[in-house]
Amino acid sequence: MPLGEDRERTLTELMAYHQVSTIEEVHNLHLDAPFEFCRKALNSKIRRYHSTIYDLSAQKLGVDAFDLIFVGDVLLHTFSPLRALVSIAPLCRGTLIISSDLANEGYGQPIMRYIGGEERSRDNRSWWIPNRSCLEKMLKRLGFKNVAVVGHHTGVRKPEGYVYDRTIIHATK
Ligand SMILES: C[S@@+](CC[C@H](N)C(=O)[O-])C[C@H]1O[C@@H](n2cnc3c(N)ncnc32)[C@H](O)[C@@H]1O
Repeated sequence: MPLGEDRERTLTELMAYHQVSTIEEVHNLHLDAPFEFCRKALNSKIRRYHSTIYDLSAQKLGVDAFDLIFVGDVLLHTFSPLRALVSIAPLCRGTLIISSDLANEGYGQPIMRYIGGEERSRDNRSWWIPNRSCLEKMLKRLGFKNVAVVGHHTGVRKPEGYVYDRTIIHATK
């Protein structure tokens, strides 16, 4: 998110949402506690690594590459979706799964639509939506030879009643 007042207001809103008064409590309630709950419930050995997507590398993660990488609703929140994909492409030796809202327009032309608005609004952390052609071309440019839409994930977000539709894309090299 942009720094300064924008960021301060977002953090204040998150504290109000969780009814706490410190960023540390937000961090726990918003990020750590739900993750730990799931990890314990599933008896998982998963290791969590906090990082901006731009800084991910095999060396930092201590692995060669991953068989499966899932990127669900992340790219639209990045200032630079292409740069984000550049970071994760080398980390994928198997399938990259992207779940994303896609723009409809473009008439076959690759389009990345700006959705950040002119001023801060309620959804203040979303910046870009690609159309299908744009996402396919970026992935192919980064070495994924096979890029296919394999389905959709739809549902209703509560309590707002907002109906969402995410396109599910599988990409392999
Ligand atoms: C809407 S949530 C999606 C969470 C989850 N992947 C899912 O599919 O339900 C957006 C996620 O993008 C992450 N995110 C946004 N910008 C990021 C960045 N620059 N680097 C890494 N993660 C980022 C946020 O931390 C948040 O967890």
